[in-house]
Amino acid sequence: MTDGRGRLSGVLRAAALAALLLAGAVVRAAESAPPELPSVIPKPASLEPRPGSLRLAVIRDVVVPKNADADTRRVAGFIHDWLRNDCGVRTAGVAESARGAAVRLEVVSPDKAAKEAYRLDVMPDGIRIRASDAAGFFYALQTLRQLVPSGAAACPCVSVGDAPRFGWRGMQLDVSRHFFGKEFVKNYIDLLASRKLNVFHWHLVDGPGWRIEIKKHPELTRIGAWRKDKRAEPWNWRATELCFNGKTPGAYGGFYTQEEIREVVRYAKARFVTIIPEIEMPGHSYAVLAACPQFVCEGNNIRTDGLRGLDVFCAGNEGSYKFLAEVLDEVAALFPDAPYIHIGGDEVPDLAWKRCGKCQALMKRLGLRTPRELEAHFIGRIAQHLAAKGRKIIGWDEIAESALPKDAAVMVWRDAAFAKRALAQGCPVVMAPASHLYFDYALSPVPPGDAPSAGKGPSMETVYGFDPAAGLTPAEARLVLGVEACLWTEHVQTEARALEMTSPRLDALAEIAWTKQAARDWNDFRRRLERSAAPPAPKPK
Ligand code: ACM
Ligand code: ZN
Repeated sequence: MTDGRGRLSGVLRAAALAALLLAGAVVRAAESAPPELPSVIPKPASLEPRPGSLRLAVIRDVVVPKNADADTRRVAGFIHDWLRNDCGVRTAGVAESARGAAVRLEVVSPDKAAKEAYRLDVMPDGIRIRASDAAGFFYALQTLRQLVPSGAAACPCVSVGDAPRFGWRGMQLDVSRHFFGKEFVKNYIDLLASRKLNVFHWHLVDGPGWRIEIKKHPELTRIGAWRKDKRAEPWNWRATELCFNGKTPGAYGGFYTQEEIREVVRYAKARFVTIIPEIEMPGHSYAVLAACPQFVCEGNNIRTDGLRGLDVFCAGNEGSYKFLAEVLDEVAALFPDAPYIHIGGDEVPDLAWKRCGKCQALMKRLGLRTPRELEAHFIGRIAQHLAAKGRKIIGWDEIAESALPKDAAVMVWRDAAFAKRALAQGCPVVMAPASHLYFDYALSPVPPGDAPSAGKGPSMETVYGFDPAAGLTPAEARLVLGVEACLWTEHVQTEARALEMTSPRLDALAEIAWTKQAARDWNDFRRRLERSAAPPAPKPK
Protein backbone atom coordinates (compact mmCIF):
# COMPACT_ATOMS: atom_id res chain seq x y z
CA MET A 1 0.00 0.00 0.00
CA THR A 2 1.31 3.41 -0.83
CA ASP A 3 1.50 6.33 1.52
CA GLY A 4 -2.09 7.50 0.98
CA ARG A 5 -2.23 8.17 -2.77
CA GLY A 6 1.54 7.83 -2.92
CA ARG A 7 2.22 11.44 -1.99
CA LEU A 8 5.56 13.07 -1.31
CA SER A 9 5.75 15.99 1.12
CA GLY A 10 6.54 19.67 0.62
CA VAL A 11 5.27 23.10 -0.37
CA LEU A 12 3.56 24.95 -3.30
CA ARG A 13 3.74 26.60 -6.79
CA ALA A 14 3.17 29.88 -8.74
CA ALA A 15 6.89 30.64 -9.13
CA ALA A 16 6.95 28.93 -12.49
CA LEU A 17 4.26 31.14 -13.96
CA ALA A 18 5.70 34.22 -12.25
CA ALA A 19 9.04 33.40 -13.87
CA LEU A 20 7.35 32.81 -17.19
CA LEU A 21 5.42 36.08 -16.98
CA LEU A 22 8.52 38.01 -16.01
CA ALA A 23 10.38 36.55 -18.94
CA GLY A 24 7.39 37.46 -21.09
CA ALA A 25 7.52 41.09 -19.99
CA VAL A 26 11.18 41.25 -20.97
CA VAL A 27 10.47 39.65 -24.31
CA ARG A 28 7.57 42.05 -24.94
CA ALA A 29 9.66 45.11 -24.09
CA ALA A 30 12.45 43.99 -26.40
CA GLU A 31 10.12 43.40 -29.32
CA SER A 32 9.01 46.37 -31.32
CA ALA A 33 5.95 45.45 -33.45
CA PRO A 34 4.74 43.96 -35.76
CA PRO A 35 1.90 43.07 -33.42
CA GLU A 36 1.66 39.36 -32.86
CA LEU A 37 -1.53 37.38 -32.86
CA PRO A 38 -2.81 36.68 -29.37
CA SER A 39 -1.87 33.12 -28.62
CA VAL A 40 -4.38 30.31 -28.60
CA ILE A 41 -4.11 27.51 -26.03
CA PRO A 42 -4.40 24.65 -26.78
CA LYS A 43 -2.54 25.20 -30.02
CA PRO A 44 -4.79 24.67 -33.06
CA ALA A 45 -3.79 22.25 -35.79
CA SER A 46 -3.30 25.21 -38.14
CA LEU A 47 -3.59 28.93 -37.58
CA GLU A 48 -2.72 31.22 -40.50
CA PRO A 49 -2.67 35.00 -40.06
CA ARG A 50 -4.50 36.85 -42.87
CA PRO A 51 -4.19 40.52 -43.82
CA GLY A 52 -6.28 43.01 -41.89
CA SER A 53 -8.68 42.79 -39.02
CA LEU A 54 -12.40 42.69 -38.36
CA ARG A 55 -13.93 45.61 -36.46
CA LEU A 56 -16.30 43.78 -34.14
CA ALA A 57 -18.76 46.69 -34.03
CA VAL A 58 -19.82 45.99 -37.64
CA ILE A 59 -21.30 42.59 -36.75
CA ARG A 60 -25.10 42.60 -36.83
CA ASP A 61 -26.14 38.97 -36.51
CA VAL A 62 -25.07 35.49 -35.58
CA VAL A 63 -26.49 33.42 -38.43
CA VAL A 64 -27.42 29.75 -38.15
CA PRO A 65 -28.62 27.60 -41.05
CA LYS A 66 -32.28 26.56 -41.11
CA ASN A 67 -31.35 22.92 -40.46
CA ALA A 68 -29.19 23.71 -37.39
CA ASP A 69 -29.96 21.51 -34.39
CA ALA A 70 -30.84 22.80 -30.93
CA ASP A 71 -27.26 22.41 -29.65
CA THR A 72 -25.86 24.46 -32.53
CA ARG A 73 -28.49 27.17 -31.93
CA ARG A 74 -27.48 27.22 -28.27
CA VAL A 75 -23.83 27.74 -29.26
CA ALA A 76 -24.94 30.57 -31.57
CA GLY A 77 -26.53 32.08 -28.46
CA PHE A 78 -23.22 31.76 -26.59
CA ILE A 79 -21.49 33.59 -29.46
CA HIS A 80 -24.11 36.30 -29.31
CA ASP A 81 -23.66 36.61 -25.50
CA TRP A 82 -19.89 36.82 -25.91
CA LEU A 83 -20.16 39.60 -28.50
CA ARG A 84 -22.61 41.57 -26.34
CA ASN A 85 -21.25 40.97 -22.86
CA ASP A 86 -17.50 40.65 -23.40
CA CYS A 87 -16.95 42.71 -26.57
CA GLY A 88 -19.68 45.34 -26.14
CA VAL A 89 -21.06 44.70 -29.65
CA ARG A 90 -24.72 45.61 -30.10
CA THR A 91 -25.66 42.59 -32.22
CA ALA A 92 -29.27 42.17 -33.19
CA GLY A 93 -29.35 38.50 -32.23
CA VAL A 94 -29.33 34.99 -33.64
CA ALA A 95 -31.00 34.85 -37.06
CA GLU A 96 -31.36 32.54 -40.05
CA SER A 97 -30.31 35.20 -42.57
CA ALA A 98 -27.86 38.06 -42.35
CA ARG A 99 -28.81 41.73 -42.49
CA GLY A 100 -25.21 42.90 -42.62
CA ALA A 101 -21.84 41.68 -41.38
CA ALA A 102 -22.29 38.46 -39.46
CA VAL A 103 -20.83 35.50 -37.68
CA ARG A 104 -22.06 32.68 -39.90
CA LEU A 105 -22.27 29.10 -38.71
CA GLU A 106 -22.23 26.53 -41.51
CA VAL A 107 -22.96 22.88 -40.78
CA VAL A 108 -20.81 20.60 -42.92
CA SER A 109 -21.36 16.89 -43.40
CA PRO A 110 -19.58 14.65 -40.89
CA ASP A 111 -17.44 13.06 -43.57
CA LYS A 112 -15.89 16.45 -44.33
CA ALA A 113 -15.01 17.18 -40.69
CA ALA A 114 -13.97 15.08 -37.72
CA LYS A 115 -15.93 15.03 -34.46
CA GLU A 116 -15.42 18.25 -32.47
CA ALA A 117 -13.43 19.77 -35.36
CA TYR A 118 -13.98 23.27 -36.70
CA ARG A 119 -12.76 25.68 -39.34
CA LEU A 120 -12.77 29.37 -38.38
CA ASP A 121 -12.22 32.24 -40.81
CA VAL A 122 -12.07 35.77 -39.49
CA MET A 123 -12.29 38.20 -42.45
CA PRO A 124 -12.50 42.00 -42.60
CA ASP A 125 -16.25 41.73 -43.29
CA GLY A 126 -17.32 38.91 -40.99
CA ILE A 127 -16.65 35.54 -39.41
CA ARG A 128 -17.40 32.10 -40.85
CA ILE A 129 -17.35 28.94 -38.75
CA ARG A 130 -17.76 25.50 -40.26
CA ALA A 131 -18.25 22.34 -38.22
CA SER A 132 -20.16 19.10 -38.41
CA ASP A 133 -21.27 19.08 -34.79
CA ALA A 134 -22.23 21.64 -32.18
CA ALA A 135 -19.09 20.92 -30.15
CA GLY A 136 -17.00 22.10 -33.12
CA PHE A 137 -18.83 25.46 -33.11
CA PHE A 138 -18.34 25.70 -29.36
CA TYR A 139 -14.58 25.16 -29.70
CA ALA A 140 -14.40 27.78 -32.45
CA LEU A 141 -15.94 30.22 -29.96
CA GLN A 142 -13.27 29.33 -27.38
CA THR A 143 -10.61 30.12 -29.99
CA LEU A 144 -12.32 33.42 -30.84
CA ARG A 145 -12.43 34.39 -27.16
CA GLN A 146 -8.66 34.05 -27.01
CA LEU A 147 -8.11 35.93 -30.27
CA VAL A 148 -9.93 38.98 -28.91
CA PRO A 149 -8.22 40.13 -25.73
CA SER A 150 -10.48 41.79 -23.21
CA GLY A 151 -11.35 45.36 -24.26
CA ALA A 152 -10.14 44.91 -27.87
CA ALA A 153 -12.36 46.41 -30.57
CA ALA A 154 -11.09 44.22 -33.40
CA CYS A 155 -10.19 40.63 -34.14
CA PRO A 156 -7.13 39.96 -36.29
CA CYS A 157 -7.97 38.16 -39.53
CA VAL A 158 -7.03 34.48 -39.34
CA SER A 159 -7.84 31.14 -40.82
CA VAL A 160 -7.92 28.30 -38.29
CA GLY A 161 -8.38 24.58 -38.94
CA ASP A 162 -8.59 22.47 -35.83
CA ALA A 163 -9.46 19.09 -34.35
CA PRO A 164 -8.55 17.33 -31.09
CA ARG A 165 -5.99 14.58 -30.63
CA PHE A 166 -7.97 12.75 -27.92
CA GLY A 167 -11.66 12.24 -27.25
CA TRP A 168 -11.14 12.15 -23.44
CA ARG A 169 -9.70 15.44 -22.23
CA GLY A 170 -10.29 15.37 -18.52
CA MET A 171 -9.80 17.12 -15.22
CA GLN A 172 -10.67 15.55 -11.88
CA LEU A 173 -11.73 17.41 -8.74
CA ASP A 174 -11.79 15.78 -5.31
CA VAL A 175 -14.72 17.24 -3.36
CA SER A 176 -14.51 14.64 -0.60
CA ARG A 177 -11.50 15.83 1.39
CA HIS A 178 -12.60 19.43 1.13
CA PHE A 179 -16.04 20.33 -0.12
CA PHE A 180 -16.62 22.76 -3.00
CA GLY A 181 -20.14 24.02 -3.60
CA LYS A 182 -22.16 23.77 -6.80
CA GLU A 183 -21.47 27.33 -8.02
CA PHE A 184 -17.72 26.75 -7.79
CA VAL A 185 -18.08 23.46 -9.64
CA LYS A 186 -19.93 25.26 -12.45
CA ASN A 187 -17.16 27.83 -12.60
CA TYR A 188 -14.60 25.06 -12.74
CA ILE A 189 -16.47 23.46 -15.64
CA ASP A 190 -16.39 26.80 -17.46
CA LEU A 191 -12.65 26.93 -16.96
CA LEU A 192 -12.25 23.42 -18.39
CA ALA A 193 -14.48 24.18 -21.36
CA SER A 194 -12.55 27.38 -22.11
CA ARG A 195 -9.47 25.17 -22.70
CA LYS A 196 -11.47 22.66 -24.77
CA LEU A 197 -11.45 19.98 -22.08
CA ASN A 198 -14.53 17.77 -22.28
CA VAL A 199 -14.55 15.47 -19.24
CA PHE A 200 -15.09 16.53 -15.63
CA HIS A 201 -14.29 13.65 -13.32
CA TRP A 202 -16.21 14.40 -10.12
CA HIS A 203 -14.58 12.54 -7.22
CA LEU A 204 -17.72 12.61 -5.09
CA VAL A 205 -16.88 9.99 -2.53
CA ASP A 206 -13.80 9.08 -0.53
CA GLY A 207 -12.86 8.25 3.05
CA PRO A 208 -13.16 11.79 4.42
CA GLY A 209 -16.61 12.64 3.07
CA TRP A 210 -19.65 11.40 1.12
CA ARG A 211 -20.93 14.25 -1.07
CA ILE A 212 -23.91 13.03 -3.09
CA GLU A 213 -27.47 12.72 -1.83
CA ILE A 214 -28.78 9.16 -2.17
CA LYS A 215 -32.52 9.10 -1.52
CA LYS A 216 -32.62 5.47 -0.45
CA HIS A 217 -29.81 5.96 2.07
CA PRO A 218 -30.11 9.39 3.70
CA GLU A 219 -27.65 8.34 6.41
CA LEU A 220 -24.83 8.64 3.84
CA THR A 221 -25.08 12.42 3.81
CA ARG A 222 -26.55 12.85 7.30
CA ILE A 223 -23.46 11.20 8.79
CA GLY A 224 -20.88 10.65 6.04
CA ALA A 225 -20.84 14.23 4.73
CA TRP A 226 -19.71 15.76 8.02
CA ARG A 227 -16.70 15.50 10.27
CA LYS A 228 -14.67 17.32 12.83
CA ASP A 229 -13.61 20.65 11.34
CA LYS A 230 -10.22 20.19 9.65
CA ARG A 231 -10.23 23.18 7.35
CA ALA A 232 -7.15 24.60 8.97
CA GLU A 233 -5.11 21.44 8.43
CA PRO A 234 -4.36 19.02 5.66
CA TRP A 235 -6.83 16.20 5.64
CA ASN A 236 -5.69 12.75 4.66
CA TRP A 237 -7.25 9.37 4.60
CA ARG A 238 -5.47 8.13 7.70
CA ALA A 239 -7.09 10.71 9.92
CA THR A 240 -9.21 8.99 12.53
CA GLU A 241 -11.68 11.74 13.43
CA LEU A 242 -15.13 10.34 13.04
CA CYS A 243 -17.71 11.42 10.58
CA PHE A 244 -20.79 12.55 12.44
CA ASN A 245 -24.15 14.14 12.18
CA GLY A 246 -24.03 17.54 10.45
CA LYS A 247 -26.09 19.02 13.24
CA THR A 248 -23.15 18.63 15.61
CA PRO A 249 -21.66 22.04 16.40
CA GLY A 250 -18.36 22.56 14.59
CA ALA A 251 -19.08 19.96 11.92
CA TYR A 252 -17.37 20.62 8.58
CA GLY A 253 -18.65 19.32 5.28
CA GLY A 254 -21.52 19.46 2.86
CA PHE A 255 -23.05 17.56 -0.03
CA TYR A 256 -24.91 18.09 -3.29
CA THR A 257 -28.63 17.44 -3.36
CA GLN A 258 -29.86 15.45 -6.34
CA GLU A 259 -31.43 18.64 -7.71
CA GLU A 260 -28.03 20.36 -7.54
CA ILE A 261 -26.35 17.41 -9.25
CA ARG A 262 -28.90 17.57 -12.08
CA GLU A 263 -28.31 21.30 -12.43
CA VAL A 264 -24.53 20.82 -12.69
CA VAL A 265 -24.93 17.94 -15.18
CA ARG A 266 -27.18 20.14 -17.39
CA TYR A 267 -24.73 23.03 -17.10
CA ALA A 268 -21.79 20.84 -18.11
CA LYS A 269 -23.67 19.23 -20.99
CA ALA A 270 -24.49 22.63 -22.47
CA ARG A 271 -20.73 23.24 -22.55
CA PHE A 272 -19.90 19.85 -24.08
CA VAL A 273 -18.44 18.53 -20.85
CA THR A 274 -19.39 14.99 -19.81
CA ILE A 275 -19.31 14.41 -16.08
CA ILE A 276 -17.88 11.08 -14.94
CA PRO A 277 -18.97 10.53 -11.33
CA GLU A 278 -16.71 8.54 -9.03
CA ILE A 279 -18.10 6.38 -6.25
CA GLU A 280 -15.02 4.96 -4.52
CA MET A 281 -15.07 1.28 -3.54
CA PRO A 282 -14.20 -1.11 -2.06
CA GLY A 283 -11.51 0.90 -0.22
CA HIS A 284 -11.30 4.61 0.64
CA SER A 285 -14.68 4.00 2.27
CA TYR A 286 -14.41 5.43 5.75
CA ALA A 287 -17.27 7.93 5.34
CA VAL A 288 -19.71 5.32 4.08
CA LEU A 289 -18.67 2.81 6.74
CA ALA A 290 -19.12 5.43 9.46
CA ALA A 291 -22.66 5.90 8.19
CA CYS A 292 -23.34 2.19 7.54
CA PRO A 293 -21.27 0.13 10.00
CA GLN A 294 -23.13 -3.02 8.93
CA PHE A 295 -20.74 -3.22 5.94
CA VAL A 296 -17.59 -3.27 8.07
CA CYS A 297 -15.73 -6.60 8.09
CA GLU A 298 -16.16 -8.92 11.04
CA GLY A 299 -13.70 -8.41 13.84
CA ASN A 300 -13.12 -4.74 13.03
CA ASN A 301 -14.38 -1.71 14.78
CA ILE A 302 -13.18 1.18 12.66
CA ARG A 303 -14.27 3.61 15.33
CA THR A 304 -11.81 2.20 17.82
CA ASP A 305 -9.25 0.39 15.65
CA GLY A 306 -8.40 3.39 13.48
CA LEU A 307 -8.28 3.23 9.74
CA ARG A 308 -5.14 1.85 8.27
CA GLY A 309 -5.90 -1.37 6.47
CA LEU A 310 -9.53 -1.39 7.56
CA ASP A 311 -11.60 1.08 5.53
CA VAL A 312 -12.96 -1.40 3.08
CA PHE A 313 -16.40 -2.82 2.36
CA CYS A 314 -16.87 -6.36 3.58
CA ALA A 315 -16.65 -8.40 0.37
CA GLY A 316 -18.16 -11.44 2.04
CA ASN A 317 -21.33 -9.60 3.05
CA GLU A 318 -24.04 -9.86 0.40
CA GLY A 319 -25.52 -6.66 1.82
CA SER A 320 -22.50 -4.67 0.54
CA TYR A 321 -23.38 -5.50 -3.08
CA LYS A 322 -27.08 -4.83 -2.62
CA PHE A 323 -26.36 -1.48 -1.00
CA LEU A 324 -23.87 -0.43 -3.69
CA ALA A 325 -26.28 -1.49 -6.43
CA GLU A 326 -28.94 0.77 -4.89
CA VAL A 327 -26.48 3.65 -4.70
CA LEU A 328 -25.27 3.12 -8.27
CA ASP A 329 -28.83 2.95 -9.60
CA GLU A 330 -29.40 6.49 -8.33
CA VAL A 331 -25.99 7.63 -9.56
CA ALA A 332 -26.59 6.22 -13.05
CA ALA A 333 -29.96 8.00 -13.22
CA LEU A 334 -28.37 11.31 -12.18
CA PHE A 335 -25.65 11.06 -14.83
CA PRO A 336 -27.55 9.78 -17.88
CA ASP A 337 -24.81 10.74 -20.35
CA ALA A 338 -21.86 9.21 -18.51
CA PRO A 339 -20.75 6.16 -20.52
CA TYR A 340 -18.51 5.17 -17.64
CA ILE A 341 -19.07 5.22 -13.90
CA HIS A 342 -15.78 5.49 -12.01
CA ILE A 343 -15.72 2.94 -9.21
CA GLY A 344 -12.30 3.76 -7.70
CA GLY A 345 -10.62 0.45 -6.93
CA ASP A 346 -7.31 1.97 -5.81
CA GLU A 347 -5.27 1.26 -2.69
CA VAL A 348 -7.62 -1.40 -1.39
CA PRO A 349 -6.36 -2.59 2.01
CA ASP A 350 -6.41 -6.32 2.70
CA LEU A 351 -6.01 -6.53 6.48
CA ALA A 352 -9.74 -6.42 7.22
CA TRP A 353 -10.50 -9.04 4.56
CA LYS A 354 -7.80 -11.36 5.96
CA ARG A 355 -9.31 -11.11 9.46
CA CYS A 356 -12.95 -11.42 8.43
CA GLY A 357 -14.76 -14.77 8.66
CA LYS A 358 -17.28 -13.77 5.98
CA CYS A 359 -14.60 -12.69 3.50
CA GLN A 360 -12.53 -15.80 4.17
CA ALA A 361 -15.58 -18.04 3.72
CA LEU A 362 -16.40 -16.40 0.38
CA MET A 363 -12.83 -16.82 -0.83
CA LYS A 364 -12.90 -20.48 0.09
CA ARG A 365 -16.26 -21.03 -1.60
CA LEU A 366 -15.12 -19.35 -4.84
CA GLY A 367 -11.57 -20.73 -4.76
CA LEU A 368 -10.03 -17.26 -4.56
CA ARG A 369 -6.47 -17.41 -3.34
CA THR A 370 -5.52 -13.81 -2.62
CA PRO A 371 -7.17 -10.55 -1.52
CA ARG A 372 -6.48 -9.24 -5.05
CA GLU A 373 -8.62 -12.04 -6.44
CA LEU A 374 -11.32 -11.14 -3.93
CA GLU A 375 -11.10 -7.53 -5.09
CA ALA A 376 -11.44 -8.64 -8.72
CA HIS A 377 -14.57 -10.59 -7.73
CA PHE A 378 -15.97 -7.50 -5.98
CA ILE A 379 -15.28 -5.18 -8.94
CA GLY A 380 -16.62 -7.81 -11.35
CA ARG A 381 -19.96 -7.93 -9.55
CA ILE A 382 -20.27 -4.15 -9.58
CA ALA A 383 -19.35 -4.04 -13.28
CA GLN A 384 -21.99 -6.68 -14.01
CA HIS A 385 -24.65 -4.63 -12.25
CA LEU A 386 -23.73 -1.49 -14.17
CA ALA A 387 -23.50 -3.38 -17.47
CA ALA A 388 -27.14 -4.40 -17.05
CA LYS A 389 -27.92 -0.66 -16.94
CA GLY A 390 -25.86 0.01 -20.08
CA ARG A 391 -22.91 1.51 -18.23
CA LYS A 392 -19.24 0.59 -18.24
CA ILE A 393 -16.84 0.90 -15.34
CA ILE A 394 -13.60 2.81 -15.21
CA GLY A 395 -11.27 2.29 -12.26
CA TRP A 396 -7.79 3.22 -11.08
CA ASP A 397 -4.99 1.06 -12.44
CA GLU A 398 -4.97 -1.35 -9.49
CA ILE A 399 -7.98 -3.05 -11.07
CA ALA A 400 -5.76 -4.08 -13.99
CA GLU A 401 -3.67 -6.25 -11.65
CA SER A 402 -6.37 -8.91 -12.02
CA ALA A 403 -8.56 -10.00 -14.92
CA LEU A 404 -10.64 -6.98 -15.92
CA PRO A 405 -14.39 -7.06 -16.46
CA LYS A 406 -15.53 -6.87 -20.08
CA ASP A 407 -15.64 -3.28 -21.41
CA ALA A 408 -13.83 -1.84 -18.39
CA ALA A 409 -11.49 1.10 -18.85
CA VAL A 410 -8.54 1.89 -16.64
CA MET A 411 -7.32 5.24 -15.35
CA VAL A 412 -3.57 5.02 -15.01
CA TRP A 413 -2.26 7.04 -12.06
CA ARG A 414 1.06 5.24 -11.67
CA ASP A 415 3.09 4.76 -14.88
CA ALA A 416 3.02 3.25 -18.35
CA ALA A 417 3.86 -0.21 -16.95
CA PHE A 418 0.43 -0.23 -15.30
CA ALA A 419 -1.15 0.93 -18.54
CA LYS A 420 0.42 -2.07 -20.26
CA ARG A 421 -1.41 -4.48 -17.92
CA ALA A 422 -4.75 -3.03 -19.00
CA LEU A 423 -3.76 -2.78 -22.65
CA ALA A 424 -2.62 -6.41 -22.66
CA GLN A 425 -6.23 -7.28 -21.76
CA GLY A 426 -7.48 -5.12 -24.63
CA CYS A 427 -8.94 -2.50 -22.27
CA PRO A 428 -8.76 1.21 -23.05
CA VAL A 429 -6.88 3.56 -20.73
CA VAL A 430 -6.94 7.19 -19.67
CA MET A 431 -3.48 8.41 -18.69
CA ALA A 432 -3.38 10.42 -15.44
CA PRO A 433 0.10 9.78 -14.01
CA ALA A 434 0.83 11.32 -10.61
CA SER A 435 4.36 12.09 -11.76
CA HIS A 436 3.11 14.66 -14.28
CA LEU A 437 -0.58 15.31 -13.77
CA TYR A 438 -1.37 15.40 -10.04
CA PHE A 439 -1.96 19.10 -9.56
CA ASP A 440 -2.07 18.83 -5.77
CA TYR A 441 1.72 18.64 -5.92
CA ALA A 442 3.64 21.89 -6.04
CA LEU A 443 4.73 23.12 -9.42
CA SER A 444 8.49 23.50 -9.31
CA PRO A 445 10.25 25.78 -8.62
CA VAL A 446 8.26 26.25 -5.44
CA PRO A 447 8.04 29.89 -4.35
CA PRO A 448 9.16 30.62 -0.81
CA GLY A 449 6.30 30.87 1.65
CA ASP A 450 3.91 29.00 -0.57
CA ALA A 451 1.00 27.23 1.14
CA PRO A 452 1.28 23.50 1.90
CA SER A 453 0.72 21.02 -0.89
CA ALA A 454 0.99 17.28 -1.39
CA GLY A 455 4.70 17.71 -2.08
CA LYS A 456 7.23 18.94 -4.55
CA GLY A 457 6.00 18.27 -8.05
CA PRO A 458 7.20 18.61 -11.62
CA SER A 459 8.18 21.79 -13.43
CA MET A 460 5.87 23.23 -16.05
CA GLU A 461 8.21 21.89 -18.74
CA THR A 462 7.94 18.39 -17.26
CA VAL A 463 4.15 18.60 -17.14
CA TYR A 464 4.04 19.84 -20.72
CA GLY A 465 6.48 17.13 -21.82
CA PHE A 466 4.08 14.30 -20.99
CA ASP A 467 2.98 12.29 -24.02
CA PRO A 468 0.12 9.91 -23.20
CA ALA A 469 1.28 7.49 -25.89
CA ALA A 470 4.98 7.44 -24.94
CA GLY A 471 6.38 3.94 -24.62
CA LEU A 472 3.34 2.31 -26.22
CA THR A 473 3.21 0.39 -29.48
CA PRO A 474 0.95 1.86 -32.19
CA ALA A 475 -1.65 -0.83 -31.43
CA GLU A 476 -1.54 0.01 -27.72
CA ALA A 477 -1.67 3.74 -28.40
CA ARG A 478 -4.94 3.26 -30.27
CA LEU A 479 -6.47 2.15 -26.94
CA VAL A 480 -5.53 5.42 -25.20
CA LEU A 481 -8.84 7.24 -24.77
CA GLY A 482 -7.06 10.33 -23.59
CA VAL A 483 -5.55 12.11 -20.66
CA GLU A 484 -6.62 13.63 -17.38
CA ALA A 485 -5.15 15.63 -14.49
CA CYS A 486 -6.26 15.29 -10.87
CA LEU A 487 -6.74 17.83 -8.13
CA TRP A 488 -6.84 15.91 -4.86
CA THR A 489 -7.73 18.22 -2.03
CA GLU A 490 -6.13 17.03 1.20
CA HIS A 491 -4.26 20.35 1.19
CA VAL A 492 -6.64 22.41 -0.90
CA GLN A 493 -8.97 24.11 1.53
CA THR A 494 -10.35 27.05 -0.43
CA GLU A 495 -11.74 27.77 -3.89
CA ALA A 496 -8.95 30.29 -4.52
CA ARG A 497 -6.36 27.64 -3.76
CA ALA A 498 -8.09 25.13 -6.02
CA LEU A 499 -7.88 27.58 -8.92
CA GLU A 500 -4.30 28.49 -8.10
CA MET A 501 -3.27 24.82 -8.11
CA THR A 502 -5.14 24.18 -11.35
CA SER A 503 -3.68 27.07 -13.29
CA PRO A 504 -1.39 27.40 -15.24
CA ARG A 505 -0.98 23.65 -15.48
CA LEU A 506 -4.45 23.36 -16.99
CA ASP A 507 -3.05 25.09 -20.07
CA ALA A 508 -0.34 22.44 -20.37
CA LEU A 509 -2.90 19.68 -19.84
CA ALA A 510 -5.17 21.17 -22.49
CA GLU A 511 -2.38 21.14 -25.01
CA ILE A 512 -1.34 17.56 -24.15
CA ALA A 513 -4.96 16.53 -24.65
CA TRP A 514 -5.86 18.54 -27.75
CA THR A 515 -2.77 19.17 -29.84
CA LYS A 516 -1.10 16.47 -31.93
CA GLN A 517 2.23 15.41 -30.43
CA ALA A 518 4.20 16.39 -33.56
CA ALA A 519 2.89 19.97 -33.26
CA ARG A 520 3.87 20.39 -29.61
CA ASP A 521 6.98 22.29 -28.67
CA TRP A 522 7.88 23.50 -25.18
CA ASN A 523 9.56 26.77 -26.22
CA ASP A 524 6.69 27.65 -28.51
CA PHE A 525 4.17 26.83 -25.73
CA ARG A 526 6.10 28.93 -23.20
CA ARG A 527 6.06 31.92 -25.53
CA ARG A 528 2.34 31.51 -26.20
CA LEU A 529 1.62 31.19 -22.49
CA GLU A 530 3.38 34.50 -21.88
CA ARG A 531 1.30 36.22 -24.55
CA SER A 532 -1.92 34.43 -23.76
CA ALA A 533 -4.99 36.57 -23.34
CA ALA A 534 -7.00 33.55 -22.36
CA PRO A 535 -10.05 34.87 -20.56
CA PRO A 536 -10.88 33.75 -17.05
CA ALA A 537 -13.76 31.37 -16.64
CA PRO A 538 -17.01 33.32 -16.88
CA LYS A 539 -19.11 33.55 -13.74
CA PRO A 540 -22.06 31.19 -13.74
CA LYS A 541 -25.34 32.89 -14.49
C1 ACM B 1 -4.71 7.44 -6.42
O1 ACM B 1 -4.02 8.45 -6.41
N1 ACM B 1 -4.63 6.56 -5.42
C2 ACM B 1 -5.66 7.18 -7.50
ZN1 ZN C 1 -15.42 -9.06 5.41
